[in-house]
Amino acid sequence: MDYRVQAGVLGTGSALPSRVLSNSDLERMVDTSDEWITTRTGIKERRIAEANESTSDYATLACQRALESAGVSPDEVDLIVCATVTPDTMFPATASLIQHKLGATRAAAFDLSAACSGFIYALSLASAYIESGRYTKILVVAADLLSRITDYEDRSTCVLFGDGAGAVLLGPADAQKGFLAFDLGSDGSGAEFLIQPAGGSRVPATIESVESRLHFLRMSGQETFKFAVKAMVSATERVLSSAGMDVSDIDLLVPHQANIRIIEAARRKFDLVEEKVMVTIHKYGNTSSSSMAIALDEAVRAGRAKSGDLVVIVGFGGGLTWGAALLRL
Ligand code: UT7
Repeated sequence: MDYRVQAGVLGTGSALPSRVLSNSDLERMVDTSDEWITTRTGIKERRIAEANESTSDYATLACQRALESAGVSPDEVDLIVCATVTPDTMFPATASLIQHKLGATRAAAFDLSAACSGFIYALSLASAYIESGRYTKILVVAADLLSRITDYEDRSTCVLFGDGAGAVLLGPADAQKGFLAFDLGSDGSGAEFLIQPAGGSRVPATIESVESRLHFLRMSGQETFKFAVKAMVSATERVLSSAGMDVSDIDLLVPHQANIRIIEAARRKFDLVEEKVMVTIHKYGNTSSSSMAIALDEAVRAGRAKSGDLVVIVGFGGGLTWGAALLRL
């Protein structure tokens, strides 16, 4: 008996802190300028969570909104996959905390770590579960509070990152709709380019590790930049060609929001008009795993991604990792 069905998007949601950290705020914290940040990154402001909040709070809100938009109740959810590199705690998984807060009593739950590419990895995994017939309702939530691991004394990284969460409810798609192809990849030789050095088994937390600021994110900006442009372009090309499609078929590109110059390089390479590329970086900065999920939710809610549209979601990040998803919405 053939159980295979196509997995599709039943609903989307996102959640962002209300507190804004602007470029002029950062000018008062480190040696930087609104002009440098704007021209080098495209970022004007980002959102920062309050001290008493955690990743699961925003993830839960994003999931609630995705369920509401799908008209599905929490007890119908079979599985919650949370993509994050800033979990509430190293364990238990943040997905288990979300499961409890949502009241998704039937759902299994686990976290997935693929840095900024985590949303695409989680979508790919959840799609395979749906297609296999094992599960019929899966919440994929990408959530990160990067402010928690950002060094606000390091101007080369602290201007980039923000906090947020985005969620998608996946289930069996209507005919001709759903995820048509995925392209995932990793190159661990670049692991040191984007890393939180301490807090794991290699450098457990000690007074020395904290004093050396090793629990903060570190990034080799230029190496990551070069990798990012190549990864975005090649992953998009591969995911389209594996479905027998072309860039000209795309209705909307939803890229990871790391730097407007990376997004623009991809847009120009593909000769896409600006209206076909979703950009949120000016208002949220780089929100890690959640950036593509938030951008997708905003695109759907603003009517920029409509039922039947062909959408490419593409990103890259620590690992190094990359991923692209081809979706008929
Ligand atoms: O989602 C994770 C993936 N991450 C990324 O995709 C990030 C990719 N990389 C980038 O987006 C860019 O490399 C950055 C935005 C991080 C940096 O831009 P850049 O054009 O590559 O600058 P740079 O690192 O080459 O630095 C140029 C200059 C340096 O000064 P000198 O040595 O030329 O005097 C830096 O010290 O800019 C200086 N600089 C700053 N100046 C003012 C670095 N950060 C700042 C700052 N404000 N915030």
